[in-house]
Amino acid sequence: MASLSSSFKAILTLAFLIPLMGSSSAQLSTNFYSTSCPKLFTTVKSVVNSAISKEARMGASLLRLFFHDCFVNGCDGSLLLDDTSSFTGEKRAAPNLNSVRGFDVVDNIKSAVENACPGVVSCADVLAVAARDSVVILGGPNWNVKLGRRDARTASQGAANNSIPPPTSNLNALISRFNALGLSTKDMVALSGSHTIGQARCTTFRARVYNETNIDNSFAQTRQGSCPRTTGSGDGNLAPLDLQTPTAFDNNYYKNLVNRKGLLHSDQQLFNGGSSDSIVRGYSNSQSTFSSDFVAAMIKMGDISPLTGSKGEIRKNCRKIN
Ligand code: HEM
Ligand SMILES: *[C@@H]1O[C@H](CO)[C@@H](O)[C@H](O)[C@H]1NC(C)=O
Ligand SMILES: *[C@@H]1O[C@H](CO)[C@@H](O)[C@H](O)[C@H]1NC(C)=O
Repeated sequence: MASLSSSFKAILTLAFLIPLMGSSSAQLSTNFYSTSCPKLFTTVKSVVNSAISKEARMGASLLRLFFHDCFVNGCDGSLLLDDTSSFTGEKRAAPNLNSVRGFDVVDNIKSAVENACPGVVSCADVLAVAARDSVVILGGPNWNVKLGRRDARTASQGAANNSIPPPTSNLNALISRFNALGLSTKDMVALSGSHTIGQARCTTFRARVYNETNIDNSFAQTRQGSCPRTTGSGDGNLAPLDLQTPTAFDNNYYKNLVNRKGLLHSDQQLFNGGSSDSIVRGYSNSQSTFSSDFVAAMIKMGDISPLTGSKGEIRKNCRKIN
């Protein structure tokens, strides 16, 4: 009797502990679709490959979509929803309007994935894989992407306005915004290295190239050449975030910062006599340190508040809820 009741107690204890163990972590895993969608990775990669071979910048645009999804109520595909009569989506929020791009490519990826395994893979996970593939195709580091996110059934323009840091941010604002999401200063500096690829509009760097003093003179003049001083004139003119190799994922972004050639105010804040200078200098001297810290930070960013289990849904079309 004694041994029976003690093993009964052990079973009760286990039955109580197992669900607790699960609920404390995000429950994402790198093999989440290995039986339900074994062709996921090859399918996504081939669509991302052809999009980037048509336009190299698309790799940058896809990487940024993942960031703008994860920072707004977690990595839940909410960014991808079009406006409806019951909610205003995130696409026209201040940080996204006339700026985020790549939604057609996401649609193409999702269609290809739906053909391979209908109703299985979330749009949030499609973004996570497409972001990784973009980095790899443009010459950056590879990593195993954690998966198992589900898709939100709503979106929030207000949260998008408030959650994504603007390029006018100073160092303290950047640090505290990232810290609030569980990302350290080092993560923030490493993730900002994404600005080694892609383009920015004149309106985002005008004040810096005309008015700031912590900027290389000839660099400022070069950028002024395609960004008129007057607001409203040439606002959409593009310049590369990395003046040296804007379609290669490398550590030149940090070398630029050390030379006071960061394009955005927020970029140069990372190397402006403050606490993050040493991190920037370290990455400017070591591609491999940057790569490993970038990978670790991307995995942490991908862990922000995912919907798992029975929360949310697996959207059929990334633009609308089922
Ligand atoms: C640290 C705070 C950040 C600020 C203030 C910021 C701000 C910006 C701005 C203003 C642009 C140009 C947008 C435009 O002109 O339309 C941009 C572009 C971009 N951002 Fe960031 N960003 C930040 C962090 C990140 C992070 C964490 C990632 C990715 C993990 C990222 C990836 C990109 C990429 C790839 C582009 C180029 C997109 C394209 O060419 O389509 N950024 N960012
Ligand atoms: C978000 O920002 C945009 C652009 O500034 C503004 O038009 C919109 O009203 C804001 N939305 C919310 C819900 O605050
Ligand atoms: C530069 O600063 C001056 C003075 O604060 C301001 O009036 C002007 O609009 C700024 N110019 C740009 C391009 O930001």
